[in-house]
Parts: sequence; structure tokens; C-alpha cells
Amino acid sequence: MATDRPVSRRQALKAGLALAATATFAAQAARAAAPLLTRPVPATGVRLPVVGIGTNRFSTGDAAWNARLRDTLSTFARLGGTVVDTAPSYGDSERAIGAILGETGLRERLFLATKLDRDGVADGRQRLEASFAALGTRRLDLVQLHNLIGARTLLPLLREQQAAGRIGHVGITSSSDSQYAEMEAIMRREKLDFIQVDYAVGNRGAGERLLPLAADRGMAVLVNLPFGRGAQFRAVGGRPLPGWAAEIDCASWAQVFLKYVLGHPAVTCAIPGSTQAAHVEDNLGGGRGRLPDAALRQVMAVYFDAIADS
Ligand SMILES: NC(=O)c1ccc[n+]([C@@H]2O[C@H](COP(=O)([O-])OP(=O)(O)OC[C@H]3O[C@@H](n4cnc5c(N)ncnc54)[C@H](OP(=O)(O)O)[C@@H]3O)[C@@H](O)[C@H]2O)c1
Repeated sequence: MATDRPVSRRQALKAGLALAATATFAAQAARAAAPLLTRPVPATGVRLPVVGIGTNRFSTGDAAWNARLRDTLSTFARLGGTVVDTAPSYGDSERAIGAILGETGLRERLFLATKLDRDGVADGRQRLEASFAALGTRRLDLVQLHNLIGARTLLPLLREQQAAGRIGHVGITSSSDSQYAEMEAIMRREKLDFIQVDYAVGNRGAGERLLPLAADRGMAVLVNLPFGRGAQFRAVGGRPLPGWAAEIDCASWAQVFLKYVLGHPAVTCAIPGSTQAAHVEDNLGGGRGRLPDAALRQVMAVYFDAIADS
């Protein structure tokens, strides 16, 4: 038989904390179990998870470093990530990724995107073959003209390779406002499968013309620098997450930043750079659960601007 013994303040507090911990744990578990959202590439209908990985800091190194990168990429694939962005100009990132793919057999589970940064056709062809060799693959899912280099000369080469089945998709990239006008002109002139551009809550310029144009032209969008090369983490410092973060299932600032980007309907996939498995897990969490609507995205932008100005 239950007795109605008076409950002390301490006991009540303890019970309340235990309940809150259970609720937090349940919310975390629900978030982790939510499926990774996907969006289609308009040109081919291929569906991509909305969070990928940027690898500009991947490189071959000592055994411990190589193991760390292998763990990062394996965790990424195990948790459902597929889009891996690299470039021949990122040191030997392509070679480091190729080595990991050789060791893990992950190639077929990934959507491999690299870039081309040459103007001349002979040079470009050589550089492209070097990317196939370094990555150890016979097919690249996406090749992008890096920072618009070769936009007048090399698209025919990429389309030839696409027709031959060696390249899945063709695109162009930029990460600088000073190139936006030129990027827009190329997007209007050419039929492209993808663009890649910098866009973040602290850097919203691409949202004005380029992202709406990509949607109009049926081009998929990869977003680079979603954390402003890490500067956004420094800007928020140790601040707790605002109350509205829970409304969109965010457990970290990384997820807030990614969900701001993914809340834009033209964005196909954000590619945060990371060399750490724990960060990859955090970032993929940004692709699960609810996304902000236009009104909340406005609140997020105002909130971030106020921090950046303070
Ligand atoms: N023009 C172009 O085509 C172009 C230009 C720039 C970048 N990109 C592509 O875009 C990718 C992303 O750019 P980025 O890596 O320079 O900048 P970013 O994604 O904005 O930020 C990366 C930084 O954030 C840190 N980070 C990642 N996840 C985190 C987390 N959950 N919590 C705390 N810190 C975290 C990373 O450190 P850790 O390594 O320790 O995780 C790194 O210092 C590049 O890798 C590249 O593939 C393309």
C-alpha cells in the first residue's frame, strides 16, 4: 500500500532532474534515430543526403593521422553520409581519400565530387586523369570547375567524359562574392548539373541571386563554408543554444548553422569540412529532424548578426 509521506524539496528536485534527464535522453535518441533527409539532383533524380563532408584538410600523414581520417570517413558512411567533396589542389587530399577507399571498400557507398583547376584542354585532361588515379576510381560522381577556372574551355571536356560514363555530373564552384556576377553569367549561359557556393548564416550573399537562379535553372547546389571556416563557432563562443533551437531538433551550434543553410529550399547538400569522427556525427545530426521555415530563418539571421556585431 502506498503511503503519503511528505516529499522533501531535495527529493522533488532530484526526481525533477531525473525526469528532465530522461526527457533529454529520449529527445537525443529520437533525433539520432530520425532518418537523414535527402534531396534530388534535378538533372538526374539521384537523391543525396543533405549533409556531406568537405575534405580540404585531408592529407596523407603518419599512422595515427591516417587512422583518424579513416575513422572520420568510415563514421560518415556508417551514419548515412555519401557526398564527399575534394579537389586536386587540396594538398594530397585525393590521394588520402583514395587510400582510405582502397582499405575500407567504401567507394560504392559514396558520391565522390572533385574539381578541375586548369584552363587548357590538354592540361585539364591530364589533371582529370590524375584525379581518377589518386582517388582510385573509374567513375567520378561530380567534377566541378574550381573557382570557375576553365568555364570557357573545359565544359566540353567534362561533357565528353560524362557522355562516356566516366563522370556522373558536371558543375562549377566559387567561394567568393567577387565571382558571383561571373558565376551568374555562366549559370545563365550553360546547362549545369550542379553549382557549389559559399553560404552560411553569417554569409548570406549567395541567397540573394545565385540560389534562386539555381532553383530556376534546375541546378543542384552544394554549399561550402557552412561554418565560415569555423569562424561562426568562435563568434558564438560558449553561448547556450537559444530556445528556438529545440523547435528544429538542434543539439549543437553546428546543427543550428547547418539547418539554417538547409532551410533554403534551393540547397541540395551542405559540405562542412571536418577531420574528426565526432564532428561528422554532430554534423550529420544537422540533416535529421525538422528544418526552419522562412520566418525562423529570419530570426536565426537576426540573432547571429547581433552576436557578430557585439
Ligand atoms: N571554391 C571552392 O570550391 C571551395 C572553397 C572553400 C571550401 N570548399 C569546400 O567546402 C568544404 C568546407 O569548407 P571548410 O572546411 O573550409 O569550412 P567550414 O566547413 O565552414 O568549417 C570547417 C571548420 O569547422 C570545424 N568543424 C567541423 N564540424 C564541426 C563541429 N561539428 N563542431 C565544431 N567544429 C567543427 C572543422 O574542424 P575539424 O576538422 O576539427 O572538424 C574546421 O575547422 C571544404 O572542405 C571544401 O571541400 C570549396
